[in-house]
Amino acid sequence: MRIIIAILISYLIGSIPSGLLLTKSVLKKDVRNYGSGNIGATNVARVMGLKAGVLVAVFDILKGFLGVLVGQAIIGDPVSVYVLLVAMAAIAGHDWSIFLGFTGGKGVATTFGVILRLYPLAFLIYALIWLFLVIKTRYVSLGSIIGSLSLPFVIYFSGFSGAHILFGALLSLFVIFTHRANINRLMNGEENRMDPDKLGQS
Ligand code: G3P
Repeated sequence: MRIIIAILISYLIGSIPSGLLLTKSVLKKDVRNYGSGNIGATNVARVMGLKAGVLVAVFDILKGFLGVLVGQAIIGDPVSVYVLLVAMAAIAGHDWSIFLGFTGGKGVATTFGVILRLYPLAFLIYALIWLFLVIKTRYVSLGSIIGSLSLPFVIYFSGFSGAHILFGALLSLFVIFTHRANINRLMNGEENRMDPDKLGQS
């Protein structure tokens, strides 16, 4: 019962659509009608500028971090397999929010939050891979996709095994799934490059 309660709380935390709430309250705009149509930090930055994007990124990272904290507090074992389920619920909440009719974002920032709380060393490597790819290619989605594919490996190299590796692989699958449209655009050469000079103009 405690595990189900933790999963539900984590899912509800993940479901808070911060990007949509921010753009709606400040600009009276639905961010889903602009740019890539995503509610995440990247698209909020396109529509509202860098500061708003960073704010949403921080909030969405916190959702993942808090989701794990809730699981750890309720279950009492910081690296139990059940905590991993609770962590996944936070990401699922972001991707398929109960407040948005089970639609939502792509889960990258929330995944960062989960990894930060569970595997700080893996987080560092994951964040560096993401940052390197985004800076080098200016495709945020490419950094997110390749970064997520590295998760099982970076979790392993930071000293975890078994269910933790499987967990990393599942998180990769979540990100690949939510980036289906980005993958198509990348393959067709149609993906939006991040242009710092054009942030806030979409
Ligand atoms: O985290 C989302 C990012 O990887 C892609 O965002 O808006 O370009 O689809 P977007």
